[in-house]
Formats: sequence, structure tokens, C-alpha cells
Amino acid sequence: MEKIYIFDTTLRDGEQIPGACLNPREKVEIALQLARLGVDAIEAGFPISSPGDFEAVKTIAEKVKGPTIVALARAVREDIETAWNAIKDAEKPRIHVFLPSSDIHIQKKFGTDRTKQLERGLEALKYARSLCPDIEYSPEDASRTDPEYLVKVVEQVIAAGATVVNIPDTVGYAVPPQFGQVIANLKEKVKGIDNIVISVHCHNDLGLATANTLEAVEKGARQVECTVNGLGERAGNASLEELVMAIRTRKDYFQFFTDINTPEIMKTSQLVSRLMGMPVQANKAIVGANAFAHSSGIHQDGILKDRSTYEVIRPEDVGITAHAMVLTARSGRHALKHKISEMGYDVQEEEFEAIYKQFLSVADKKKRIYDEDVAVIVQDVIFAHLDEEKRYSLESYKVTTGNGETPEARVRLRRDEVILEASSEGDGPIDAIFKAIDKVVGTFHKLEDFQVRAVTETKEAMGVATVRVLRDDYRALGRGSSTDILKASARAYVQAINRLHWMVKRNADTAKAKESA
Ligand code: KIV
Ligand code: ZN
Repeated sequence: MEKIYIFDTTLRDGEQIPGACLNPREKVEIALQLARLGVDAIEAGFPISSPGDFEAVKTIAEKVKGPTIVALARAVREDIETAWNAIKDAEKPRIHVFLPSSDIHIQKKFGTDRTKQLERGLEALKYARSLCPDIEYSPEDASRTDPEYLVKVVEQVIAAGATVVNIPDTVGYAVPPQFGQVIANLKEKVKGIDNIVISVHCHNDLGLATANTLEAVEKGARQVECTVNGLGERAGNASLEELVMAIRTRKDYFQFFTDINTPEIMKTSQLVSRLMGMPVQANKAIVGANAFAHSSGIHQDGILKDRSTYEVIRPEDVGITAHAMVLTARSGRHALKHKISEMGYDVQEEEFEAIYKQFLSVADKKKRIYDEDVAVIVQDVIFAHLDEEKRYSLESYKVTTGNGETPEARVRLRRDEVILEASSEGDGPIDAIFKAIDKVVGTFHKLEDFQVRAVTETKEAMGVATVRVLRDDYRALGRGSSTDILKASARAYVQAINRLHWMVKRNADTAKAKESA
């Protein structure tokens, strides 16, 4: 198997996205993560474009060890000199010179002809080569360049010292068989082509960047230029994660490998998304939130029987710890049972039937059922009898609070026929209520989780509060609802405490029964 070199241009082409500008510190953070990911080359920036970018490329060159550090330059002396000054301290520096080769660009952008354009490119390349031993040359808009002229350009840049020749589909115009033919033509006709690495750089304007890149690899390209999350100019570049996982997953077909440490993929994707402020679409291949989420009941059932039924990539191979079972109205009994036992509940068969019924009625109203919804349903069922014979119930509460005042709550709970009362201060009104309840009950509870959600979207929304409390290794959930969120929270807390008391008592009874047996 041959190696495919991964050239990451997230920090250069990816950073060209409007609004995705990174500061030098953020660029270094991403570069360090790209090195952990195992990319072969990092195109760190375009140093002539701004003093900030120069600084960032220079710091990356000094700090990031492992990958080749590449700086972009137009075929202009000043660009090349600045690029070199930015990367000369890198372990493995490379200057990337680009100059258009298509007639459209030569005539319309440069107002010149093919011969003069080639001379300009060669002169720039020779200058770059006098500074740095590793030079990449890109005939920009190569996919729209006359094939015979492209052969001439590539042959002469190789003769002038290029070590890598990159063939860009700059405007994302190519289609796979035709782009493959561009590479095959070069392989067949260019003298010296086997002495250099052929690279490709595909844009995604027609959604074909990954397909074009893979076709080029089949025809002889050995370096692929790509970005994390497929970011880049306009519709973006070929996505790193798609290329790497396609090559890895279909090695039976491609017969290639990369040196990417694939479990680092998800972390890298999230870091880039966060620092660039570019959310990843949910259905994005490999790194989207839904890429490993199975929602249909038939699929979930298949996955639980054998993952290979509906998964071609193991989530852990890209750094996701588990495949997500998204419970929805279409999830079947098998998926729900699996989730319940995964959450650590041991339920009887008749309890499960009641849970499933309640689950279906909640799922009818909600698109996704989260773990805490399942927990509430399960506890509602298994503690149903207890909730009828409550130990404590909320009679009333009163909170005083205001700007600059410490909130204080007074709470009245009923236990059997007795009314118990206590007050407490707190960090906020809800904290004061919970502390007052603890005083009434006489025990302290650690609040592990607290959430309030609106069930309806109007102003008079019904608030549902969910709490999870811990006491002496016992954990219980409580839920309360009301249009008043303080009341909903107080009810939830009291319910959780009732359930805790019940658990403690049940365990003590079981222990006693065992002792006397
Ligand atoms: O898309 C392109 O042609 C480029 C070059 C600089 C390689 O980004
Ligand atoms: Zn590009």
C-alpha cells in the first residue's frame, strides 16, 4: 500500500472564509492540534497578506514540530521573501508559489499571454528555490487550463526545481472522470513527473471536491490538499475527514493509507468549528452531530444486533466514544430497553411496558427524547406507588428577594398530618428554597443537576423542573411542573427527597430481611 500525504490548508484556504479570521494564538492552537492529528503538511498562512498572519506563520514554524510548515506566496519576489522569513526556522519549511495558468485568468486577470506567464512563474520558482529546498508550485485554475499547455508548465517547473506540483480545481468546476484525466495526462506526458509529488487541491462548488480528489489519487496524485470540516473559499475545500476516512474505510478498493491519527478527528473538528465560529452542519459526513446517530427503530434494532448492519465506520475510530441512539417516536422497544439498562436501571417486565407506554406518549410530542427524559419516565413508573403515599408534600413557600438583597425562603411541608416549617437564605431564590427544604427534612442533599424547561412556547409557558440529588451514595431524580418555576423547582426537590427516603428504607428492609434469613 502506498501512502497518501495529507496537506492541511485550514489555516490558509479555510481561513479565507469571511468572518472566520483567527488571531495568531488561535492559529497556533489549531496548528498544534493538526500536528497531533498527524497531518504531513500544514499550510499555515499567506504571510504577505498581513503582519498578523506573518506573525502567526512564524510562531507556528517555530513551535510546531512534525509536519512540514508551508507558507503561500504569489509569483512575486516580495511575497516569496516574506514567506521565507516566516518559515525559515521550521523543522521542515516549504514555500508554495502559485500563478494562474488558464487562459481566462492569464488574459482577464493578468492581461498577458501564456509564454510571458510561464516565464514569470519560472523566475519566481527559481528565486524561491534559492531560499528553500522544498518548493510547491500551483498553476492556479489548472482544471480549466488547456491540457497541452499544462503539460508544458508542469514539465518546466519540475525542471526549475519544484518538489511538489499542485493541480488545483480552483473554481470547483471539474467532474471526477475529467479531473482524473487531467492527472493521467500529466502522468503520461510530463518528463520527470515521477521525481516529484503530484498534489491536488479541489474546491467544492459543485459538491464534488472529495470525489474529484479521490479520482485524482487513483490516477497518480499522492498529496491531497484539504481542510478540517471542508472549510474554505466559497463552498469550501475537500474535507480532510472525508478523504481520510474514505481512504481508510475503503482500503480494499483504494489500496492506500494515510498517517492520520483518526481518533483525533472529532476533537480537531470541534476545535476548528469553535475557534472559527463556523458550526458544523448536523448531517456533515464523519463529524456532523448526526453522522453516527441512528433514529429509525429498524436501524436501531439492527445496530443493537450487530453494528455492521448500519455503520461503516466505528464512531470510536474518529474519536466519538459511543454511537448515539437518538430516541424518537420511531424507536422500538429494543432501543429503549438498551438505553434504560445503559443508564443503570433494572426494571421488571411489567414496569417496562408502563415505561414504554409513557415513552410513546412523550415521544409523540417531542422530536428527540433525551436521557433525562428517559430517567424521569423510568423513575415516574418505578416510584409510582411511592409518589401516591408521599412522605413529604409541599404546602406553601414564600421567597423574598430583590436587587442587592440576599434571597430568603420560608417553606412549609406536610408530613402525615404535621406541618413542618423552616427558612433559609441562599445564593438565589431557588437555592434558598432547597436549603429551607433540607432544614425541614433534617438532612443535607447534594444537588447534582437542576434544569428548568418550558413545555409550551407561549408567555404562560408551563415550566418543568428536573433535579438530581445525591445523599450517601443514593441518587434520585425529581420532577415538578407549574407555571411558577419556583414552585415547579420546590416540587421537584421534594419529590427527589421522597424517592431518596424510599430507596434508603427499601435497602435497609432488604438488609434486615437478609440478616434474619
Ligand atoms: O484554489 C486555489 O487555486 C488555491 C491556490 C492558492 C492553490 O487556493
Ligand atoms: Zn483554494
